[in-house]
Amino acid sequence: MPTLDANYWENRYHDHNTPWDIGYPSPPLVHYLQQHTEPADRILIPGAGHAYEAVWLHQQGYRNVFVCDWAPSAFEILEAKAPDFPKAQLLVEDFFALDLEVDLILEQTFFCAIDPGRREDYARQACKLLRPGGKLAGLLFTHPLERGGPPFGGREADYRSLFEKYFDVLQLAPAADSIKPRAGNEVFLEVQRRSQGR
Ligand SMILES: C[S@@+](CC[C@H](N)C(=O)[O-])C[C@H]1O[C@@H](n2cnc3c(N)ncnc32)[C@H](O)[C@@H]1O
Repeated sequence: MPTLDANYWENRYHDHNTPWDIGYPSPPLVHYLQQHTEPADRILIPGAGHAYEAVWLHQQGYRNVFVCDWAPSAFEILEAKAPDFPKAQLLVEDFFALDLEVDLILEQTFFCAIDPGRREDYARQACKLLRPGGKLAGLLFTHPLERGGPPFGGREADYRSLFEKYFDVLQLAPAADSIKPRAGNEVFLEVQRRSQGR
C-alpha cells in the first residue's frame, strides 16, 4: 500500500487521477442535508476534495460550512465555483489534528481513503469534533476490505461495532439513492454523539 500522506493525495490531483470525483453534489448527501439541516448549522466536510456539497450548501445560504483537506490543490474548484466562500473555513490541515466544534460531519469517500488501521482514530476524532448530540452522516463503501485500497471497503457489521463505541447509531443500511456506479456498494450511516461523555 502506498503511504497515504498529503503528498500522495496532492499528486493524485496534479495527475488528474481522481476517479472518486463525481463532479456534482452527491444525491444521497443532498437529500440528507435537505431533510436534516438548517442554514445556521455548523457543518464539517473532512477530506472534502473538490467539495461539490460545500458549493451546494453555500448556494443554499449555509454560512458555517468548514471543509478540510490536506492536499493544497483540493479546494481550487470550490474557490472557483464559490469565490466568496470564507477563506477561514478552508482548512488545509490534517483531519486528525483539527480542533473545532460542529453540529454535523458529512462523510463521502474520506473514511475509505484513510489507512484502515486509523478507523478507530477516525471515529474518536469525529466524536471529539461534534457537539454533544451532533451527528456524523454519509456513505461508506461495502466492498471487501481484503480487496485493498484506497478506496477501502468494509462490512456493515464491522462499521456498526466501530461506531457504536462512540455514538448512537441512528441509521446504517444500504443507501437507497446511490449514484449508479456505487449502487449496492455503499451504506448510509447516521450516528449521533451521546450527550454525556466521549
Ligand atoms: C478519495 S478523496 C475524496 C474527496 C471528496 N470527499 C470526494 O468525494 O470527491 C480523499 C480526500 O481525503 C483527503 N485526505 C486524506 N487523508 C486526509 C487527512 N488525514 N486529513 C485531511 N484530508 C485528508 C485527500 O487529500 C483527498 O482529497
